[in-house]
Amino acid sequence: MPATLSCRYPEGGITVGHFARNHWYVAAWSSEVGDKPFGRRLLGEPIVLFRQSDNSVAALLDRCPHRLVPLSMGVCKEGRIQCLYHGMQFDGTGRCVHIPAQTAAERFGLVWLWMGDPALADASLLPAIDKYGAPGWAVMSDGYQHHPSSYLNIIENLMDPSHTTFLHANTIGNPLAEDKPVTTEKNDRYIVAYRWVENSDPTPHDRRRIDVGDIKVDRGQYFYFHLPAMSRVETIVIPAGTARTEENLSSKGMRTHSYKFLTPETDSATHFFWLHVRNYQVGNEQAAANLRAALEQTFAEDLQIELAMQRAQEETGLRQVVALEIDRAPSLAVRMLKRMIEAEADRQPAKETA
Ligand code: FES
Ligand SMILES: [Fe+2]
Repeated sequence: MPATLSCRYPEGGITVGHFARNHWYVAAWSSEVGDKPFGRRLLGEPIVLFRQSDNSVAALLDRCPHRLVPLSMGVCKEGRIQCLYHGMQFDGTGRCVHIPAQTAAERFGLVWLWMGDPALADASLLPAIDKYGAPGWAVMSDGYQHHPSSYLNIIENLMDPSHTTFLHANTIGNPLAEDKPVTTEKNDRYIVAYRWVENSDPTPHDRRRIDVGDIKVDRGQYFYFHLPAMSRVETIVIPAGTARTEENLSSKGMRTHSYKFLTPETDSATHFFWLHVRNYQVGNEQAAANLRAALEQTFAEDLQIELAMQRAQEETGLRQVVALEIDRAPSLAVRMLKRMIEAEADRQPAKETA
């Protein structure tokens, strides 16, 4: 019988239920928070969002302090939230009745919550979105999928260019990319893995979005992971041999910035918000609809893998059995996140759990 290979959580493991809390996480699209209270579980906690009289968003723990009925079952009344059961009303601070409140901000059409110490909430730490609202660039927003898998699996997937050749053969995959090395760089806040595949045929996805004819293209892919839970994939497709100056990349290339905001619902499920910025076919609604469908198809290809991995991980208690060279960037991303969570835990007294 072969020896059992056991490689439990090679990145050292992140303790169940521990998240980096002193950060902004996307809680919802602004359009999701309307006249009614909106409930969603974030970082393991039930949260209710609602609009106050001045239209700003407030966020409270989604539990009535009387009988713990979810406040999201109630109604909004003059900027307050009213419990369905006995009609207690609460304002956005929750203070007078001791409901924990989260600090909220709206930007890029998204509602962001600061999930940690309110005293540390700092609007200047909200992430930037490249080219959002810039002339000549189109934004595709309101993307959301529920992924029943750990956000760690999704981070690893999004930092792993090598899977695109196989899993996404019918969408963004490119067989020529298989042997191309990936370069990885990092600083304190993010890590990037990138590669250029030169003189190759356009992918099926490229062919659908633009008429590139029979020309060969150079294709650059930059996979960024910004701590604690944002991914940005920049893709550039330009005619083969074009000098890669910043000017050429934007004027002669098709460029996209594909953002994903991964907010853990729990340890084993994730809110996958996505937003896409591009410099081609701006104002073409049919092209935008086709692109949205293609992106959703690509994300669904990842989703089925993430779900299958989650099941196998829960069954075995393992994350992987062998480590490959292609795991470098994904493992580094998870290690950086683990260090961030540990550093935060060291700075703060342990959170009391009821
Ligand atoms: S349970 Fe909310 S008022 Fe009684
Ligand atoms: Fe993928």
